[in-house]
Amino acid sequence: MERRTIGAAALEVGAIGLGCMPMHWAYTASQQGGEGALRTVHAALDAGASLLDTADMYGPFTNELLVGRVLRERRSEAFVSTKCGLLVGDQHIVANGRPGYVKRACDASLRRLQTDVIDLYQLHRPDPEVPVEETWGAMAELVSAGKVRALGWCAIGARAQRRFGSTAGAGTGMYDATIRHLERVQQVFPVSCVQAELSVWSREALDRLVPWCASRGVGVLAAMPLGNGFLSGTLTPGQGFEPEDVRARHPRFTAEMMAANQPIVAGLRRVAARHGATAAQAALAWVLAQGRHVVPVPGTKKARWAVQNAAAAELRLSAADLAEITALPKAMGSWD
Ligand SMILES: NC(=O)c1ccc[n+]([C@@H]2O[C@H](COP(=O)([O-])OP(=O)(O)OC[C@H]3O[C@@H](n4cnc5c(N)ncnc54)[C@H](OP(=O)(O)O)[C@@H]3O)[C@@H](O)[C@H]2O)c1
Repeated sequence: MERRTIGAAALEVGAIGLGCMPMHWAYTASQQGGEGALRTVHAALDAGASLLDTADMYGPFTNELLVGRVLRERRSEAFVSTKCGLLVGDQHIVANGRPGYVKRACDASLRRLQTDVIDLYQLHRPDPEVPVEETWGAMAELVSAGKVRALGWCAIGARAQRRFGSTAGAGTGMYDATIRHLERVQQVFPVSCVQAELSVWSREALDRLVPWCASRGVGVLAAMPLGNGFLSGTLTPGQGFEPEDVRARHPRFTAEMMAANQPIVAGLRRVAARHGATAAQAALAWVLAQGRHVVPVPGTKKARWAVQNAAAAELRLSAADLAEITALPKAMGSWD
């Protein structure tokens, strides 16, 4: 697989990674975990993917434990990226960015992952109660201690932050508050990578965030590159989702919006068919084309999809193909 170099610490990874979240979080709980998930991680590595994206809160903890079982056997083939800063309670998920907590969380992740170093340690969400410089300073100390190779920032909550005005300030773009945070933490220790939602139907990161990263040598992990599965064309409008599935409450996954957004899937299928590829692969190839510093991390619990997604790194879309995808209709259904 093509390799890409991301970030201040010049990290080299396979151009397409594996999002491990669906194995223990967010999607179809009835199918999560088990030996199938283990096979999926092995299949992704076999197919040339190296970046395995997990988090202590997926499960919680079980996803890191699973990745650890693979790392015990195949550490040199893998690039492990995990996250800290969110605690899962019975009813709520809360941020904790206190320095002491961050250091304890890292030690716990290292134990679960069965490794002595985490390649990329990401702050899952900033804690509104703790100055972000303090949290980031503690994470920088983990690099000095040799427990972590590089630091990453997750920008996924940007939409909610903007919506609730929790990080008020100048600018109205979805990632304006994120960029202000990034500029503050860059004063403390270099950011190697930013994780943000980026897909054919969610392009806000392309306005300012992806260019901001490019101009500073910061990598981008494109989360949700398959639009939570929709862009693969394997979901049917009105099919319904399990109660805990994030799509059960997602405005783009009502029967009406899934039907309204079918032209996006049709367009991806049209381009993919010219290359003997799938809609999911065309969607991933489009994300890859957004910059040499961009690494999509499609999530799956299924080995066959991990293999299919990894193969998208070999799909060479022409400029005309890419323009056709870029020109597809804007997605209907909004959180705003
Ligand atoms: N930092 C954050 O806050 C944050 C937030 C969200 C995501 N992420 C990261 O980004 C990764 C990717 O995002 P995501 O997993 O939410 O969304 P995604 O990659 O857009 O979509 C995942 C969904 O697509 C399905 N899928 C995957 N490959 C497929 C294929 N080839 N054909 C048909 N369906 C396919 C999966 O089904 P199955 O579940 O049945 O396999 C899963 O339900 C996550 O795994 C996680 O590592 C991070």
